[in-house]
Amino acid sequence: MSACVTCPTSRPPSCGSPRSGLSANVLWSEHCAVCHGADGRGVPARRGLDPRLDLRRSEMLAANDHGLVFQRIAYGYAAMPGFAHKLPRGDIELLVELAAELAKR
Ligand code: HEC
Repeated sequence: MSACVTCPTSRPPSCGSPRSGLSANVLWSEHCAVCHGADGRGVPARRGLDPRLDLRRSEMLAANDHGLVFQRIAYGYAAMPGFAHKLPRGDIELLVELAAELAKR
């Protein structure tokens, strides 16, 4: 049985990727809302320049391709900055789920 490095006991149900402990909503408002808006539709001033800020337009979110979305958030591309050096892996996983929710609204 392999021990989990992030948890003091071996493999409790909560054991997974390392997290800061902040909720997805707090992470979103601290790191993402400045460009994507609180609702994931893009802040209006920027959306004109970059319509892809509106997550409802995202093909990879519509296709539920969470692996690819994770890569995009972790490493960035084009005007989207990468967060792999700022956020622990578990936080990025939370943001993938939240982005998927926002894209459906
Ligand atoms: C500096 C502005 C900025 C910040 C901050 C930012 N993004 Fe982005 N993001 C962008 C832009 C611009 C794109 C579109 C890039 C393109 O397609 O050219 C994008 C694209 C994305 C996409 C991909 C959509 C697709 O289908 O290609 C996801 C998912 C995403 N951002 C999530 C996040 C998350 C989560 C955060 C916070 C951790 C975040 N972004 C922070 C600017 C930003």
